[in-house]
Parts: sequence; C-alpha cells; structure tokens
Amino acid sequence: MRKDLPEVALQATCNGLIYDWSYQFLTPEAVEEYANKRLPKNFDEARKQLLNGTYLNISENREVSHVLARGRHSVLNDGDHSKFAKIARKLRSGQWLGSTGKPIQHVVNIGVGGSDLGPLMASFALKEFATDIQKHHLETHFVSSMDGGQLYAVLPVVDPETTVFIITSKSFGTIDTFANVDTVKIWAQEGLQKHEKTLQDWMEHHVIGISANTQKMTDYGIPPAHQLTFPESIGGRFSMWSAIGLAIATSCGVQVFQRMLEGARMMDEHFATQKPSENIPLLMALLGIYNREERHINNLAVLPYDGRFRHLPSYLQQLDMESNGKQYTADGQALNQPTGPIIWGGFGPNGQHAFFQHLHQGYDSFTADFVVVLHRDTKRFSDNVTNSLKSQQHLSVANCLAHRRLMAVGQSSDNPANHYPGGHPNSLFALKELTPESFGAIIAAYEHKVFTQGVVWGLNSFDQPGVELGKEIAKDTYKAVLDKKLGENSNVLFDASTDALIQWVHD
Ligand code: F6P
Repeated sequence: MRKDLPEVALQATCNGLIYDWSYQFLTPEAVEEYANKRLPKNFDEARKQLLNGTYLNISENREVSHVLARGRHSVLNDGDHSKFAKIARKLRSGQWLGSTGKPIQHVVNIGVGGSDLGPLMASFALKEFATDIQKHHLETHFVSSMDGGQLYAVLPVVDPETTVFIITSKSFGTIDTFANVDTVKIWAQEGLQKHEKTLQDWMEHHVIGISANTQKMTDYGIPPAHQLTFPESIGGRFSMWSAIGLAIATSCGVQVFQRMLEGARMMDEHFATQKPSENIPLLMALLGIYNREERHINNLAVLPYDGRFRHLPSYLQQLDMESNGKQYTADGQALNQPTGPIIWGGFGPNGQHAFFQHLHQGYDSFTADFVVVLHRDTKRFSDNVTNSLKSQQHLSVANCLAHRRLMAVGQSSDNPANHYPGGHPNSLFALKELTPESFGAIIAAYEHKVFTQGVVWGLNSFDQPGVELGKEIAKDTYKAVLDKKLGENSNVLFDASTDALIQWVHD
C-alpha cells in the first residue's frame, strides 16, 4: 500500500455531486498552501468579475457573460413570453407546422464547435428527463462536420415536409456549417418542389437561426420570428446555457433546460464561496496546475463510466484546449512554461477493452478524471428488468472504482507482465444521481476550472486566435483542390507531399 494515501477520503461536495481527490497524493494543507502560492492577488476580484459578467476578454475588448446566461440574463427569464421557450414548446407539442401543413417531427441542429458540442452532449445526457416525450414524436439530430458525413446518415431518415433545421453559429459565417446548410437547402428544395413549395416557403417554415449576429441572419433570409440571439460576450464554447442550447430544449423540454441552468447556478455559488480545499473548481484547477508543473504530466484523460456522459470528453477538449492551449499571456508576452494539458478520453467501460492496457502498464504519465453515477432508477421497465439494469449500473461503478484505484495505487510483482506501476494521480466525480441539476453543476465546475487556470497562467481564456491561420490556408488549398492549380499556377506554393495529394484528387 502506498504511504501517501489519505486516512480519510478527500471529498468536496456540492448538492449531490462528490469530487473525490483522494488519489492526487496531496493533503488539504498542501493544497491550501499551494493555493496561497499560486492564486494571484487579483484572483478574488477576477472571480467576482467572472460571476457578475464584468471580467474582460481583453483581446476582443468585451466582457465575459456566460455566467449571466444561466441567471440574470437567462433566455427563460421572460417566463411565458420567452421566445426561446415558445419555440421549443411549439416544436415539442407538434404545433409547429411545416410548409405543407404537417407537424414537425425532426429537428436538425447544424453547427460546429461550441454551436454543436454542448447541445449535443446535454441533449444526449438528459433526454430521459423529458416529461412530455410521449405526446408528440420529435427527434433532434446533430450535424457538424464539413465533410457532409453526418448528412449521409440524417437526410435519409428525415423528411423535408416535417423537419426544422436550426442553424447555430455565433458568427453566422462558419464555412463548415454553411457547407452543410447549402446541401440541405438543395435537398429541401428538391423535396418540396413536388408540393409546389419554394425556397422562401422552406425558409419561413423550416429554418431557425441562432447567432450573435442578427443582421447576418436577416440577410440570409431567416424571418425575425425565427431568429434567436445571444450577446457577443458569450464565447462559443461557453454558450450552451444561452439560445445556442435550443436543441437541448427541443430534445429534453424547457423544464429540463431550466433545471440544468439551476444546477450550474449552484456551482457558481459554490465556486464563489468555498475555501480552496473544499471548492470543486478550485481544487480541479490547482491539482491540474500541480500535475502539469510539478509532475510534468501533459495530459488529462476524461473517463466517464456512464454512457449518458459519452460526449463529455469531446466537449471538454474544446472547452479546455481552445481556452488554455496558449503560450502567450493576455498582454501578449511569450510564456515559457506549460499551460493547459492535452485533454483526451473516452467511455470508460469500453476503454477498459481498448486503451486501458497502456494506462495500466504503458510508459507514459497521465492524470485522469473519472465520472460515475452511483444510482440510476428508471421506472420504465418491469421490476425484473429494472433490477437487472440497476445491477449493471453497480457493475459499472465497481469497475470504475477498481480501475481508478489500480491506476493510483498500483500493484507490484516480480513478473513484469503482472506489475502495475500505479502512481497516476486521478480524481473522481461521483454523482449520487444524474439529474439536469447535477449535470449543469459538473459542466459549470469544468468551466470555472478552465477560468481559474487561465488566471493563474495569465492567459486570456476567451479568445482562440490559433484557429485562424489554418482556416485561411485552407481557402487557397480548396482553390487548388477544385482547380488543380499547383506550382506556378497556384496562389500558394505547397510542397511535394501536398502537391502529390492534390494531384491524386484529380487522378
Ligand atoms: O474555429 C473555432 C470556432 O470559432 C469556435 O470557437 C466556435 O465554437 C466554432 O468555431 C464555431 O463558430 P460559430 O459558432 O461562429 O459558427
């Protein structure tokens, strides 16, 4: 047994959410000391500003207001007058009619990055909490990738007469999203032509726009009644609490969306008030910094043991890596030290049969966040099936506990094949039950972790200039791919590899 395991479990809690950091090989005293050392003097002020919507995103010269989107400025604040809620309810109740008079049965969210990952993750996780699901069949689908790969799967199962497309794009200009919309437009026109419906009819009955840029939505032809907006001050990867979350409300209902916001608000309150060794986001941030800087571990594996959290790793990849994957400070100084880790991961139980071999006995260091749901009580099936499903949940809990312990504690043997080095620091999020509230709380905790780490490292966590150059180069590359203009005929000189591959597109 390792000597550095605590005698009492180290757990911070917030409304049914337990963050267990017993396997981080640090004591609460050491964490409090580390907090004093690493949190800058302005941290309290910065946290206050984040929570009241006045923290400055300096490079884009605007305040950061995603926290307000789940409180003071929530899209649901107007109660029955909330346009967001009205649209979602109309769709869910079957009262939204398509251009030929049929009730809408499918919603397709077209967006990418922050306009996809949060709504996709939450819709998938919280679907079973919908209270009005039986009344009208409405299915929500997600399309994000520029290759059209998802359209190949979605278009055959939806019908232009009974489908609404939500175009979600903060900028309302992302090429990936509009490449998908262009294809859908052609498909819809072809489908509606036989009913003598025009593109205009499609736009008026089958398209909703969500963006921070109202003008662009209007210019695109989206009727004002079907436009939802949110402020520029809400970053894409922090936007699922805002109008961008409409697909969550169409999948799970407005009430579930509201409960998710409530859970996030509980975490905001917790973040504002708890001392570091009992404050979940602060612990996550400080332990992460310690692992990065003192233990030189460059990655964090996100390992959910409940299928409803299946999309959490990719959501956190954007949240963390797009925010803190930087080597310069907010005021533009080069930073010569590690910052945000590489986030990766996958569904834990299946990972056990795929990549866990490397985690248990491979060469590399890693840290991990496990996520587990302790109870799942579904009333949908017979008693026998329900009991069997409960046992499956407990089987998953047991596997999660066993693997995380082995990764931390290890087990020695003289036979190298039976030797498990252990020593991999990890944390566990245990939810007593998955509810919209506990889900909202866990996501808000990750947001605040990313924010805290950004403040400690002196980064601006709210911009992403590093994604721009690739987009620019892709434009010229696209021209070359379309026109086969290479070498002296091209605007840009590539290299032997790229030239040869472009050549292959045409051969
Ligand atoms: O290219 C990165 C990015 O700007 C992300 O930050 C954003 O979430 C995504 O693209 C989609 O942007 P938009 O919502 O403006 O279409």
